[in-house]
Amino acid sequence: MEKIIVIDDNKTFLETISTYLSELGYETTPADCGKKGLELVKKINPDLVICDITMPDINGLEVLKYIKEIDELIQVIMMTAVDDMNSTIIATQNGAYDYLVKADDLDLNRLKISISRSLENRKMSKRLESVTTDNLKELENNIIIGKSSIIREIYKKIGQASASRVTVLIQGESGTGKELIAKVVHSSGITKNLPFIPLNCTAMPETLLESELFGHVKGSFTDAIKDKRGKFELAGEGTIFLDEISEMSINLQAKLLRVLQEHEFEKVGGETLIPMKARVISATNCDLQKLVEKGKFREDLFYRLSVFSITPPPLRDRREDIELLVKHFIEKINVTLHKTVRKIPDEVMMMLKMHDWKGNVRELENTLMQAIVLSKGDVIEKENILLRQNEVQRGDEGKIGSNVTIEELERMHIKSILEKTNWDIKTTCDILGISKATIYRKIETYNLKQHK
Ligand SMILES: Nc1ncnc2c1ncn2[C@@H]1O[C@H](COP(=O)(O)OP(=O)(O)OP(=O)(O)O)[C@@H](O)[C@H]1O
Ligand SMILES: [Mg+2]
Repeated sequence: MEKIIVIDDNKTFLETISTYLSELGYETTPADCGKKGLELVKKINPDLVICDITMPDINGLEVLKYIKEIDELIQVIMMTAVDDMNSTIIATQNGAYDYLVKADDLDLNRLKISISRSLENRKMSKRLESVTTDNLKELENNIIIGKSSIIREIYKKIGQASASRVTVLIQGESGTGKELIAKVVHSSGITKNLPFIPLNCTAMPETLLESELFGHVKGSFTDAIKDKRGKFELAGEGTIFLDEISEMSINLQAKLLRVLQEHEFEKVGGETLIPMKARVISATNCDLQKLVEKGKFREDLFYRLSVFSITPPPLRDRREDIELLVKHFIEKINVTLHKTVRKIPDEVMMMLKMHDWKGNVRELENTLMQAIVLSKGDVIEKENILLRQNEVQRGDEGKIGSNVTIEELERMHIKSILEKTNWDIKTTCDILGISKATIYRKIETYNLKQHK
């Protein structure tokens, strides 16, 4: 009979679970605090421990660490009312098998499934390397917001990926947080004090990209006026983040594949082999598998890159996170724009929750940025929210007329934002996503004037 210890300071809960597990046929022992739980773990050597997080004597995450020190093969399921990103990531990194949230009442079926899977896992006993947990501060800078069950699965995956140097592929729609996830994988794991070097594979022609990746030696092509180190070298033993990997030419794909296989590379025009030690994380908003089928992406490279895969969901599939994200972004944007927006009417929140967010979290963030710029006082009003599809529904296109040139549209749009921001150049640039130099050029080209 498999042995389970349940640790929880809530006596009623402890009793309910213990009875339930005994009925399922497990040999169950309850413990009403962390200390007693650990004594029992040493004495009984259980197959599985189910542990609460918030307890008066020892925190559950600590208990988890001790258990893993005693015997790594003991499975641990954390059960908690605290369902934030950090505890989920830490628990997963430290080898917790699962992380279940106690809502008003407990989902026993979910618990049952998790128990049998974890026991199965124990049998297979394939363990992840465990990692230190003193990275809370850094994580705060790159924080992923969300409590929906699908985003919690993403936290677990990040925890697993960051516990080793496994090659990771992040696939998701535009704006779903792929780069953010890459940074969190990097900074919550063993690579955290090492360089994180991003490289966007769309932004440049093949020869330039090759030299960006591997570096070049002086004189290897016309513009190579001195030796240059590539991103692989700069990353050292840290992380190289290859963004928009689907855009890489077939030719370069072959070269990248070789580097991943041989763990060494040459600079463009160079002859010495340089060891490749970086961990590779790549991202794409395309379905790479489909590109493989169409012959546009090498299958062997795809398998190399996707050893571990993380797929952030579109925002419309986790609408329950929208409210949290809105609060988070409002706080962040207030700081950036020196504003003090604090209130958002239910009606407006509803609008935000209902929208389809084709541009996902980035679109939500930009929409809020505009709204906060446009808002007066500390409330975001309905009029301040400019949603892409709503603009069309309101019939704005009717006003414009069909024979307007792109230049004219641009002129009208810039003029209206300048007026709305009262000719605040910086905020206009933030909204339009252009530089100050560009806005001044446009103002001149279109002969725009401020009416005082
Ligand atoms: N879950 C989240 N919590 C908080 N911020 C998020 C979350 N997801 C994304 N963001 C923020 O949204 C913006 C877009 O995220 P990011 O650049 O990582 O997306 P992406 O998937 O790489 O997009 P693209 O495909 O367009 O490159 C960033 O400012 C990021 O910090
Ligand atoms: Mg990106």
